[in-house]
Amino acid sequence: MAALSITPHALCGKRETIVCGTARMMSNVPKESVYGGPKPQSPWERITLKHLNLMYLKGKPITMVTAYDYPSAVHLDEAGIDICLVGDSAAMVVHGHDTTLPITMEEMLVHCRAVARGAKRPLLVGDLPFGSYETSSSQAVESAVRMLKEGGMDAIKLEGGATSRIAAAKSIVEAGIAVMGHVGLTPQAISVLGGFRPQGRNVASALQVVETALALQDAGCFAVVLECVPSPVAAAATSALKIPTIGIGAGPFCSGQVLVYHDLLGMLQHPHHAKVTPKFCKQYGQVGDSINEALLQYREDVVNRSFPDAAHTPYRISANEVDAFLGELGKRGLNEAASAAAEAAEKDAKAGKPRIETPAD
Ligand code: KIV
Repeated sequence: MAALSITPHALCGKRETIVCGTARMMSNVPKESVYGGPKPQSPWERITLKHLNLMYLKGKPITMVTAYDYPSAVHLDEAGIDICLVGDSAAMVVHGHDTTLPITMEEMLVHCRAVARGAKRPLLVGDLPFGSYETSSSQAVESAVRMLKEGGMDAIKLEGGATSRIAAAKSIVEAGIAVMGHVGLTPQAISVLGGFRPQGRNVASALQVVETALALQDAGCFAVVLECVPSPVAAAATSALKIPTIGIGAGPFCSGQVLVYHDLLGMLQHPHHAKVTPKFCKQYGQVGDSINEALLQYREDVVNRSFPDAAHTPYRISANEVDAFLGELGKRGLNEAASAAAEAAEKDAKAGKPRIETPAD
């Protein structure tokens, strides 16, 4: 039986007696905080660093996928994906740029907010875009704060491992914000890397991947993305670190895997994009083909007037209302409009739609 409790009314602040279940719904006390009363947040309701660490310790693979808008976020949530990354890859797969460089903080924040509305369970990680954290640690902290305050993210990701980048990661963690590192191919650095090139393919480069990942761990990162490195290099980094590695094009010996939403769904079947879908990406769907087919079919149906048919013309007007409407149109001299309406009503009747005799509500 539900217990009774005294709770301040959420809107007017008055105290009143209400049933406990209702009280929780109406209370202005935040449910999911340490101040939210004795009921603990149910496990796995929302993925936190604590959950990720548990998964890591148990050797349970961590799943991460990018999302950029409300529907993709809802899909990730429903699929039980652990981490949702609002990646700066949005620049390429959403905005159609050739690199990740042009996307701005303001654009990223719009994507973040939409994702935060759609994904309730995954840990939300926002990518710091190029130009938002390289100048100084204080610039990096300011940008990271915006990701949480204005974007609704739980954590941020930053690319690279230069000394200044490690210092920035450390400052962001010290500011109370969880940081995910990213080493190997760091697409924001294509200018110095000479393009989208795999990393760690010689001793010096392989060691650099492992050492940078270790430095990011020491700076306080909770996980590190390993992008486009040979699997022995990823295996070495995964073994050397005490935090999870999330691989993309890095083989199976990582603590988790990440793919770009559009790539894994086979969403961009435009020849240009099909050409740039990375080699390491397994396509789990041909969503792009389905989209093309549906759009072609829709276009054809509209052009040959088979859409909308009777089944997709749901709104009715009663015979009495039609007659009165025709009369009013006539009074206003809109005789052609009245004829068009009369013809449509006639056709509706022939198509077998019931003429509703009661007034429309
Ligand atoms: O922006 C992005 O999508 C990423 C992933 C490839 C890890 O950084």
